[in-house]
Amino acid sequence: MTDMLPGPVESNEAIRLALRSWPEVEEYLKHCKGVIIPLGSTEQHGPTGAIGTDALTAEAIALDVGRRTGVLVTPAQAFGMAEHHLGFAGTMSLQPATLLAVLHDLVLSLARHGFERVFVINGHGGNIATTKAAFAQAHGTAASRGLAVAPKLRCRLSNWFMSGPVMQQARDLYGSKEGHHATPSEIAVTLQVEPSLISKQRPLDDPAPAGPIHGPEDFRRRHPDGRMGSHPSLATAEHGATFLETAATALSEDLRRFLKEA
Ligand code: NI
Repeated sequence: MTDMLPGPVESNEAIRLALRSWPEVEEYLKHCKGVIIPLGSTEQHGPTGAIGTDALTAEAIALDVGRRTGVLVTPAQAFGMAEHHLGFAGTMSLQPATLLAVLHDLVLSLARHGFERVFVINGHGGNIATTKAAFAQAHGTAASRGLAVAPKLRCRLSNWFMSGPVMQQARDLYGSKEGHHATPSEIAVTLQVEPSLISKQRPLDDPAPAGPIHGPEDFRRRHPDGRMGSHPSLATAEHGATFLETAATALSEDLRRFLKEA
């Protein structure tokens, strides 16, 4: 593992894998073995929130972290494990086993080229268990395939909405009105990155409180408008800008540590 960090860049063009050529990626790998995968979900986010909220937020934060560190950012994996949201129109879900296979294959693809540190920036709580399972399986496969990188391969899951400073900021701004799904913090980030969404914001009644859910029909019965205890109408684009700053600062530090650790 080289401990050389590429350093900050001005624009997304320099760090978006999708805009690099293969010789550029090969050259990058001589200096840095790290890569960021934004992971989202395509699922309902309450009566006013965008279906793409979790992918929009993960990608925006990943690109910000990429610009601050110079680490390459892959295209976002916009589909996640959202089976329990399927009672609402527009949700598109991967079953856990499907998402596991997708993430496993993406990590193995990167490992084959010599990427040693895979940093997944995730925007959706429903992806967490499956992503960890995919990492475990990828380590096993890398070893069984005899990939040169196998002993050095490290994967880290970074859930931006669970980072300490982000949660603190959400508590300060919204208290218990942050809730658990279609939260004002994540909606605020979408308003900042996609201003067309601001016009959808409107006052909402008090939501059903958060609680256990057992599948898509049960979710819709308990939470008829799709929110779980949240008040997304409190979100503003200005809040979103500060959440982006807070998340990108915290996750960039986490990424730098991850790239340096043995
Ligand atoms: Ni979400």
